[in-house]
Amino acid sequence: MKCAIILAGGKGTRMKTDSPKVMCEVLFKPMLGYVVDTVKEAGVEKICVITGYKNEIVEDYLKDLDENIECALQKPQLGTGHAVMQADKFISEHLDDEILILCGDGPLMDADTVNKAYDYHMSNKNAITLISAVVDDTNGIGHIKRDENGVLLRIVEHKDATDEEKKIRESNSGCYWFNGRDLQYALSKITNLNAQKEFYLTDSLEILIKAGKNAGAYTAENSEVILAANDRRQLNILNTVMRKNINERLMIDGVDIPCTDGVIIGNNVKIGSSTVIMPNTIILGDTVIGENCVIGPNTYIDSSSVGDNVILDNCKILDSTVEDEVDAGPFVKVRANSTLKKGVHIGNFVEVKNSVVGEGSKSAHLTYIGDSDVGKNVNFGCGTVTCNYDGKYKSRCTIGDGAFIGCNTNLIAPVNVGEEAYIAAGSTITDNIPEKSLSIARARQVIKEGWVDVKKPYKEKK
Ligand code: UD1
Ligand code: CA
Repeated sequence: MKCAIILAGGKGTRMKTDSPKVMCEVLFKPMLGYVVDTVKEAGVEKICVITGYKNEIVEDYLKDLDENIECALQKPQLGTGHAVMQADKFISEHLDDEILILCGDGPLMDADTVNKAYDYHMSNKNAITLISAVVDDTNGIGHIKRDENGVLLRIVEHKDATDEEKKIRESNSGCYWFNGRDLQYALSKITNLNAQKEFYLTDSLEILIKAGKNAGAYTAENSEVILAANDRRQLNILNTVMRKNINERLMIDGVDIPCTDGVIIGNNVKIGSSTVIMPNTIILGDTVIGENCVIGPNTYIDSSSVGDNVILDNCKILDSTVEDEVDAGPFVKVRANSTLKKGVHIGNFVEVKNSVVGEGSKSAHLTYIGDSDVGKNVNFGCGTVTCNYDGKYKSRCTIGDGAFIGCNTNLIAPVNVGEEAYIAAGSTITDNIPEKSLSIARARQVIKEGWVDVKKPYKEKK
């Protein structure tokens, strides 16, 4: 069985954040979330996460992700080796299994690399297989030291390295496969005799080699997978790399991104082919977008479902459903729990909240549709407002199929507009309107002829 221990106990001093480092976000998702995804994708069945600094934050996050993930507490945090020692119970339950260890601050490590390292580990009957990569910037990493014949010797942490050792570009990813029993043995031998007075997990390589065990390094094909973030600059690099990787994957799948400026798409987003993503568009969460859409420019979509042939121009769409052939924007906001049914058109400065807008309905400008159930082919005149809140309670409006709502109408909820009813422009509707009737709720126009010559208050003074 494949098992995994994820290290997530560190404070992340260099990040200058109040929350644990692994909760720092890459493309709006905690780094730890990517590591958990990778582990699962790699076919790992049992996961133990080492928590420490502000452990409740990490534990709450994990509980939401998957309640089967175990946690082991590390307090105080005395290094990566000490962190793994806290999983002694987990390890003793998996002595005959292979245990993957990863750092929660390395969100680019992928399942493909992890599994290739596993195959290498198993075919060589290794006690330890570390994943390495050749990188240019070795600042802060562990250098992989070999003898003149290329045989592995040990890992030397950057802070402990001599100037000569600092030139070694083969670097430790912080991700390893261990045999359970060999891991238990190595942990029993790790000391803190080093520059940082920490228990380094990296020492287990030399310990196992000296015990006559097989050890190997699997070199990642793509060195980017070992990038980790210790400070905000590195976090920005991870964002840049991740963003580029996702955009490229989508383009290969047929999504058209003519200019990637400001295009930020989350890892879990799915987009159909021939959809065009225009600049400054951010798409997050488990959003799914269909085919042949034009999304953006300047559009933000979070956790929503968008059909085929949809146009969203300068829109903000949150936790909502947008069906096929909807045309929305510019400057449209669709707030939580709304559905725009097939062929809906909503135009500039329209906001929809917690409402269903039926098939083919149109609201071209300056309108608020809140807490409402709108039927098919309803026409909203410019400046319609559903007055859904009386200062204490929220109430709903129901608008029947084919209703025509004149410009500048207020609908005081709760109110029901019947099918095919008409509302005269400028009406404030407080009572239900029967179907097919016209409702006028405004003062009748009065004309006073000659008024200006007789009474005009601001007549020019002599
Ligand atoms: C570690 C490795 C280094 C490797 C690098 C890759 C050691 C000694 N060094 O260095 O060889 O190149 O990762 O990114 O292992 N953590 C705990 N408890 C602790 C300390 C750390 O849980 O007491 C966790 C952190 O939250 C983090 C991970 O372990 O997720 C790595 O710790 P970090 O301090 O970032 O190690 P590096 O110095 O980067
Ligand atoms: Ca690190």
